[in-house]
Amino acid sequence: MSAPNVPKVVLQQPPSSKWNPVTVPVIGLGTAAANNDGDVVKSAVIEAIKMGYRHFDTAAQYGSEQGLGEAIAEALQLGLIASRDELFITSKLWCCDNHPHLVLPALQKSLQSLKLDYLDLYLVHWPISAKPGMRDMPYSEECLVPFDLKGVWAAMEECHKLGLTKSIGVSNFSCKKLENLLSFATIPPSVNQVEMNIAWQQKNLREYCKAKGIIVTAYSPLGAKGSIWDINQILDNELTKQIAQAHGKTVAQVCLRWLFEQGVIFIPKSYNKERLQKNIEIFDWSLTKDDHEKINQVKQERMFKNGTAAFPLPDLFDGET
Ligand code: A2P
Repeated sequence: MSAPNVPKVVLQQPPSSKWNPVTVPVIGLGTAAANNDGDVVKSAVIEAIKMGYRHFDTAAQYGSEQGLGEAIAEALQLGLIASRDELFITSKLWCCDNHPHLVLPALQKSLQSLKLDYLDLYLVHWPISAKPGMRDMPYSEECLVPFDLKGVWAAMEECHKLGLTKSIGVSNFSCKKLENLLSFATIPPSVNQVEMNIAWQQKNLREYCKAKGIIVTAYSPLGAKGSIWDINQILDNELTKQIAQAHGKTVAQVCLRWLFEQGVIFIPKSYNKERLQKNIEIFDWSLTKDDHEKINQVKQERMFKNGTAAFPLPDLFDGET
Protein backbone atom coordinates (compact mmCIF):
# COMPACT_ATOMS: atom_id res chain seq x y z
CA MET A 1 0.00 0.00 0.00
CA SER A 2 1.36 3.44 -0.89
CA ALA A 3 1.90 5.97 1.90
CA PRO A 4 -1.01 8.42 2.31
CA ASN A 5 -0.43 11.97 1.22
CA VAL A 6 -0.31 13.82 4.55
CA PRO A 7 -1.23 17.54 4.32
CA LYS A 8 1.17 20.06 5.84
CA VAL A 9 0.81 23.32 7.76
CA VAL A 10 3.25 26.24 7.57
CA LEU A 11 4.54 27.64 10.88
CA GLN A 12 4.92 31.35 11.62
CA GLN A 13 8.60 32.36 11.50
CA PRO A 14 10.24 35.64 12.54
CA PRO A 15 11.38 37.77 9.56
CA SER A 16 15.02 37.42 10.65
CA SER A 17 14.92 33.61 10.64
CA LYS A 18 17.78 31.90 8.84
CA TRP A 19 15.48 28.95 8.14
CA ASN A 20 13.28 28.48 5.10
CA PRO A 21 9.56 28.39 5.94
CA VAL A 22 8.96 25.49 8.33
CA THR A 23 6.23 23.06 7.31
CA VAL A 24 4.71 20.40 9.56
CA PRO A 25 2.80 17.26 8.54
CA VAL A 26 -0.58 17.57 10.28
CA ILE A 27 -0.32 14.15 11.87
CA GLY A 28 2.62 13.21 14.05
CA LEU A 29 3.34 10.17 16.15
CA GLY A 30 3.06 10.99 19.86
CA THR A 31 5.39 9.19 22.24
CA ALA A 32 4.03 10.10 25.69
CA ALA A 33 3.55 6.72 27.38
CA ALA A 34 3.73 5.38 30.92
CA ASN A 35 6.55 2.95 30.08
CA ASN A 36 8.70 3.92 27.15
CA ASP A 37 10.83 0.88 26.45
CA GLY A 38 13.55 2.00 24.00
CA ASP A 39 13.19 -1.01 21.68
CA VAL A 40 9.41 -0.66 21.54
CA VAL A 41 9.69 3.04 20.65
CA LYS A 42 12.36 2.31 18.07
CA SER A 43 10.42 -0.38 16.24
CA ALA A 44 7.16 1.63 16.33
CA VAL A 45 8.92 4.66 14.82
CA ILE A 46 10.52 2.56 12.08
CA GLU A 47 7.13 1.04 11.23
CA ALA A 48 5.61 4.52 11.25
CA ILE A 49 8.25 5.86 8.86
CA LYS A 50 7.55 2.94 6.50
CA MET A 51 3.84 3.91 6.56
CA GLY A 52 4.52 7.56 5.72
CA TYR A 53 4.71 9.26 9.13
CA ARG A 54 7.31 12.06 9.01
CA HIS A 55 6.46 13.97 12.19
CA PHE A 56 7.45 12.70 15.65
CA ASP A 57 6.74 14.27 19.02
CA THR A 58 8.87 13.59 22.07
CA ALA A 59 9.95 15.36 25.29
CA ALA A 60 12.85 15.19 27.69
CA GLN A 61 10.39 13.83 30.26
CA TYR A 62 8.89 11.01 28.16
CA GLY A 63 11.90 8.71 28.05
CA SER A 64 11.38 8.29 24.31
CA GLU A 65 14.13 10.52 22.90
CA GLN A 66 16.71 7.73 22.87
CA GLY A 67 14.48 5.20 21.07
CA LEU A 68 13.34 7.82 18.58
CA GLY A 69 16.95 8.82 17.90
CA GLU A 70 17.95 5.20 17.27
CA ALA A 71 15.00 4.75 14.93
CA ILE A 72 15.95 7.84 12.91
CA ALA A 73 19.54 6.63 12.60
CA GLU A 74 18.35 3.20 11.47
CA ALA A 75 15.80 4.63 9.03
CA LEU A 76 18.60 6.60 7.40
CA GLN A 77 20.85 3.54 7.28
CA LEU A 78 18.07 1.42 5.74
CA GLY A 79 17.32 4.15 3.19
CA LEU A 80 13.71 4.57 4.42
CA ILE A 81 14.42 8.30 4.29
CA ALA A 82 17.15 10.00 2.27
CA SER A 83 17.91 12.67 4.82
CA ARG A 84 17.03 13.78 8.34
CA ASP A 85 15.53 16.93 6.81
CA GLU A 86 12.56 14.85 5.66
CA LEU A 87 11.45 14.52 9.28
CA PHE A 88 9.81 16.98 11.65
CA ILE A 89 11.01 16.41 15.22
CA THR A 90 9.58 18.15 18.31
CA SER A 91 10.97 17.93 21.82
CA LYS A 92 10.17 19.80 25.05
CA LEU A 93 11.91 21.57 27.90
CA TRP A 94 11.00 20.00 31.25
CA CYS A 95 9.81 22.02 34.28
CA CYS A 96 13.02 21.67 36.30
CA ASP A 97 14.92 23.20 33.36
CA ASN A 98 12.51 26.16 33.13
CA HIS A 99 15.33 28.49 34.23
CA PRO A 100 17.14 30.80 31.80
CA HIS A 101 20.60 29.24 32.33
CA LEU A 102 19.31 25.66 31.99
CA VAL A 103 17.48 25.97 28.65
CA LEU A 104 20.46 25.59 26.31
CA PRO A 105 22.02 22.66 28.24
CA ALA A 106 18.61 20.91 28.28
CA LEU A 107 18.21 21.32 24.53
CA GLN A 108 21.75 20.07 23.96
CA LYS A 109 20.98 17.00 26.08
CA SER A 110 17.83 16.29 24.07
CA LEU A 111 19.77 16.64 20.82
CA GLN A 112 22.38 14.23 22.12
CA SER A 113 19.73 11.64 23.06
CA LEU A 114 18.13 12.06 19.65
CA LYS A 115 21.53 12.01 17.86
CA LEU A 116 20.46 15.13 15.96
CA ASP A 117 22.08 18.49 15.15
CA TYR A 118 18.82 20.41 15.34
CA LEU A 119 15.14 20.12 16.27
CA ASP A 120 12.30 21.34 14.11
CA LEU A 121 10.38 22.58 17.13
CA TYR A 122 11.33 23.07 20.78
CA LEU A 123 8.54 23.72 23.28
CA VAL A 124 8.32 24.96 26.85
CA HIS A 125 6.48 21.89 28.19
CA TRP A 126 4.48 23.53 31.06
CA PRO A 127 4.14 27.10 32.30
CA ILE A 128 5.60 26.26 35.70
CA SER A 129 9.10 26.05 37.07
CA ALA A 130 10.38 23.31 39.39
CA LYS A 131 13.59 23.57 41.38
CA PRO A 132 16.62 22.59 39.26
CA GLY A 133 17.14 18.82 39.25
CA MET A 134 13.59 18.06 40.46
CA ARG A 135 12.66 15.94 37.51
CA ASP A 136 10.00 13.65 38.91
CA MET A 137 6.29 14.29 39.17
CA PRO A 138 4.04 14.60 41.02
CA TYR A 139 5.18 18.04 42.08
CA SER A 140 4.17 19.23 45.52
CA GLU A 141 4.00 22.98 46.10
CA GLU A 142 7.47 22.98 47.75
CA CYS A 143 9.02 21.75 44.48
CA LEU A 144 7.86 24.81 42.55
CA VAL A 145 9.51 28.23 42.24
CA PRO A 146 8.31 31.39 40.42
CA PHE A 147 8.52 30.93 36.65
CA ASP A 148 10.79 33.46 34.91
CA LEU A 149 9.02 33.20 31.55
CA LYS A 150 10.75 36.29 30.17
CA GLY A 151 14.21 34.88 30.89
CA VAL A 152 13.32 31.38 29.71
CA TRP A 153 11.84 32.70 26.48
CA ALA A 154 14.96 34.81 25.78
CA ALA A 155 16.97 31.58 26.16
CA MET A 156 14.58 29.77 23.80
CA GLU A 157 15.07 32.57 21.26
CA GLU A 158 18.83 32.16 21.64
CA CYS A 159 18.50 28.41 20.85
CA HIS A 160 16.69 29.38 17.65
CA LYS A 161 19.36 31.94 16.74
CA LEU A 162 22.09 29.35 17.34
CA GLY A 163 20.42 27.12 14.76
CA LEU A 164 19.63 24.39 17.27
CA THR A 165 15.90 24.50 16.59
CA LYS A 166 14.02 25.70 13.52
CA SER A 167 11.12 27.01 15.58
CA ILE A 168 10.09 27.53 19.19
CA GLY A 169 6.79 27.33 20.99
CA VAL A 170 4.94 26.47 24.17
CA SER A 171 2.65 23.83 25.58
CA ASN A 172 -0.25 24.03 28.04
CA PHE A 173 -0.45 27.83 27.79
CA SER A 174 -3.75 29.64 28.43
CA CYS A 175 -4.75 32.73 26.36
CA LYS A 176 -3.69 34.87 29.31
CA LYS A 177 -0.22 33.34 29.41
CA LEU A 178 0.14 33.64 25.63
CA GLU A 179 -0.87 37.29 25.83
CA ASN A 180 1.84 37.89 28.41
CA LEU A 181 4.43 36.04 26.30
CA LEU A 182 3.49 37.96 23.14
CA SER A 183 3.95 41.25 25.00
CA PHE A 184 7.73 40.77 25.13
CA ALA A 185 8.67 37.97 22.68
CA THR A 186 11.01 38.95 19.84
CA ILE A 187 10.25 35.60 18.24
CA PRO A 188 6.58 34.74 18.81
CA PRO A 189 5.71 31.14 19.69
CA SER A 190 4.81 29.28 16.50
CA VAL A 191 2.89 26.51 18.30
CA ASN A 192 0.86 25.98 21.46
CA GLN A 193 0.51 22.25 22.15
CA VAL A 194 -2.51 21.56 24.35
CA GLU A 195 -4.97 18.90 25.40
CA MET A 196 -7.57 18.75 22.65
CA ASN A 197 -10.05 16.14 21.54
CA ILE A 198 -13.79 15.79 20.98
CA ALA A 199 -14.35 15.97 24.76
CA TRP A 200 -12.18 19.08 25.27
CA GLN A 201 -12.55 21.11 22.11
CA GLN A 202 -10.64 24.26 23.14
CA LYS A 203 -12.83 26.63 21.12
CA ASN A 204 -11.75 29.85 22.88
CA LEU A 205 -8.06 29.02 22.90
CA ARG A 206 -8.16 28.03 19.23
CA GLU A 207 -9.82 31.28 18.26
CA TYR A 208 -7.21 33.25 20.16
CA CYS A 209 -4.33 31.29 18.62
CA LYS A 210 -5.76 31.70 15.13
CA ALA A 211 -5.94 35.47 15.58
CA LYS A 212 -2.29 35.52 16.68
CA GLY A 213 -0.97 33.15 13.98
CA ILE A 214 -0.14 30.45 16.52
CA ILE A 215 -0.71 26.85 15.37
CA VAL A 216 -2.47 24.56 17.84
CA THR A 217 -1.24 21.01 18.26
CA ALA A 218 -3.65 18.58 19.94
CA TYR A 219 -2.18 16.17 22.45
CA SER A 220 -4.23 13.27 23.85
CA PRO A 221 -6.30 13.38 20.63
CA LEU A 222 -7.75 9.97 21.49
CA GLY A 223 -8.17 10.70 25.20
CA ALA A 224 -4.88 9.11 26.27
CA LYS A 225 -6.51 5.72 26.84
CA GLY A 226 -4.73 3.65 29.46
CA SER A 227 -2.93 6.61 31.04
CA ILE A 228 -3.58 7.81 34.59
CA TRP A 229 -5.22 10.96 33.26
CA ASP A 230 -7.67 9.22 30.89
CA ILE A 231 -11.09 10.24 32.19
CA ASN A 232 -13.42 10.77 29.32
CA GLN A 233 -13.24 7.45 27.51
CA ILE A 234 -13.38 8.99 24.09
CA LEU A 235 -12.90 5.72 22.31
CA ASP A 236 -15.92 4.22 24.14
CA ASN A 237 -18.22 7.10 23.25
CA GLU A 238 -21.60 5.95 21.83
CA LEU A 239 -21.94 8.95 19.55
CA THR A 240 -18.59 8.51 17.84
CA LYS A 241 -19.30 4.78 17.56
CA GLN A 242 -22.44 5.60 15.56
CA ILE A 243 -20.62 8.10 13.35
CA ALA A 244 -17.80 5.60 12.78
CA GLN A 245 -20.25 2.88 11.82
CA ALA A 246 -22.02 5.14 9.32
CA HIS A 247 -18.71 5.91 7.57
CA GLY A 248 -17.24 2.41 7.83
CA LYS A 249 -14.36 3.84 9.90
CA THR A 250 -13.02 3.27 13.40
CA VAL A 251 -13.88 5.55 16.33
CA ALA A 252 -10.24 6.67 16.49
CA GLN A 253 -10.36 7.63 12.81
CA VAL A 254 -13.48 9.74 13.44
CA CYS A 255 -11.74 11.52 16.36
CA LEU A 256 -8.64 12.24 14.27
CA ARG A 257 -10.58 13.29 11.19
CA TRP A 258 -12.53 15.73 13.37
CA LEU A 259 -9.25 17.28 14.54
CA PHE A 260 -8.04 17.55 10.95
CA GLU A 261 -11.23 19.35 9.98
CA GLN A 262 -10.67 21.82 12.84
CA GLY A 263 -7.37 22.86 11.21
CA VAL A 264 -5.08 21.70 14.00
CA ILE A 265 -2.07 19.38 14.16
CA PHE A 266 -2.55 16.16 16.13
CA ILE A 267 -0.19 13.59 17.57
CA PRO A 268 -1.90 10.27 18.40
CA LYS A 269 0.29 7.80 20.25
CA SER A 270 0.22 4.19 19.12
CA TYR A 271 2.98 1.60 19.16
CA ASN A 272 0.72 -0.96 17.50
CA LYS A 273 1.24 -1.59 13.77
CA GLU A 274 -2.45 -1.92 12.78
CA ARG A 275 -3.53 1.13 14.79
CA LEU A 276 -0.63 3.21 13.48
CA GLN A 277 -1.75 2.38 9.96
CA LYS A 278 -5.42 3.12 10.65
CA ASN A 279 -4.62 6.45 12.32
CA ILE A 280 -2.95 7.84 9.21
CA GLU A 281 -5.75 6.74 6.85
CA ILE A 282 -8.00 9.74 7.42
CA PHE A 283 -7.24 12.05 4.52
CA ASP A 284 -9.50 10.68 1.78
CA TRP A 285 -12.94 11.00 3.36
CA SER A 286 -14.79 13.57 5.44
CA LEU A 287 -17.33 14.06 8.20
CA THR A 288 -20.74 15.51 7.40
CA LYS A 289 -22.25 18.71 8.75
CA ASP A 290 -24.56 16.54 10.84
CA ASP A 291 -21.55 14.67 12.31
CA HIS A 292 -20.02 18.02 13.32
CA GLU A 293 -23.24 19.15 14.94
CA LYS A 294 -23.37 15.93 16.97
CA ILE A 295 -19.72 16.18 18.01
CA ASN A 296 -20.33 19.77 19.14
CA GLN A 297 -22.77 18.35 21.69
CA VAL A 298 -20.23 16.05 23.37
CA LYS A 299 -19.94 16.85 27.09
CA GLN A 300 -16.81 18.91 27.70
CA GLU A 301 -14.38 17.92 30.43
CA ARG A 302 -10.69 18.69 30.73
CA MET A 303 -8.50 15.73 31.66
CA PHE A 304 -5.76 17.84 33.24
CA LYS A 305 -7.79 19.48 35.95
CA ASN A 306 -6.39 22.27 38.10
CA GLY A 307 -4.97 21.19 41.38
CA THR A 308 -4.99 17.48 40.63
CA ALA A 309 -2.66 14.80 39.30
CA ALA A 310 0.85 16.02 38.74
CA PHE A 311 0.44 19.72 39.33
CA PRO A 312 -0.76 21.19 42.60
CA LEU A 313 -1.37 24.69 41.27
CA PRO A 314 -4.92 25.89 41.91
CA ASP A 315 -5.37 27.67 38.59
CA LEU A 316 -2.84 26.55 36.02
CA PHE A 317 -5.18 27.41 33.13
CA ASP A 318 -6.28 30.80 34.47
CA GLY A 319 -9.91 29.73 34.72
CA GLU A 320 -10.21 29.42 30.94
CA THR A 321 -12.47 26.86 29.31
P1 A2P B 1 -1.65 1.59 21.56
O1 A2P B 1 -0.32 2.24 21.67
O2 A2P B 1 -1.69 0.22 22.15
O3 A2P B 1 -2.23 1.64 20.16
P2 A2P B 1 -3.55 9.50 22.85
O4 A2P B 1 -2.95 9.58 21.49
O5 A2P B 1 -4.82 10.29 22.99
O6 A2P B 1 -2.57 9.78 23.93
O7 A2P B 1 -4.05 7.99 23.07
C1 A2P B 1 -3.12 6.94 23.11
C2 A2P B 1 -3.84 5.66 23.51
O8 A2P B 1 -4.78 5.30 22.49
C3 A2P B 1 -2.87 4.50 23.62
O9 A2P B 1 -3.33 3.68 24.70
C4 A2P B 1 -3.00 3.76 22.30
O10 A2P B 1 -2.71 2.40 22.50
C5 A2P B 1 -4.46 4.00 21.97
N1 A2P B 1 -4.71 4.05 20.51
C6 A2P B 1 -3.99 4.67 19.57
N2 A2P B 1 -4.55 4.53 18.36
C7 A2P B 1 -5.67 3.79 18.54
C8 A2P B 1 -6.67 3.29 17.68
N3 A2P B 1 -6.64 3.54 16.36
N4 A2P B 1 -7.68 2.54 18.22
C9 A2P B 1 -7.72 2.30 19.54
N5 A2P B 1 -6.80 2.74 20.41
C10 A2P B 1 -5.78 3.48 19.93
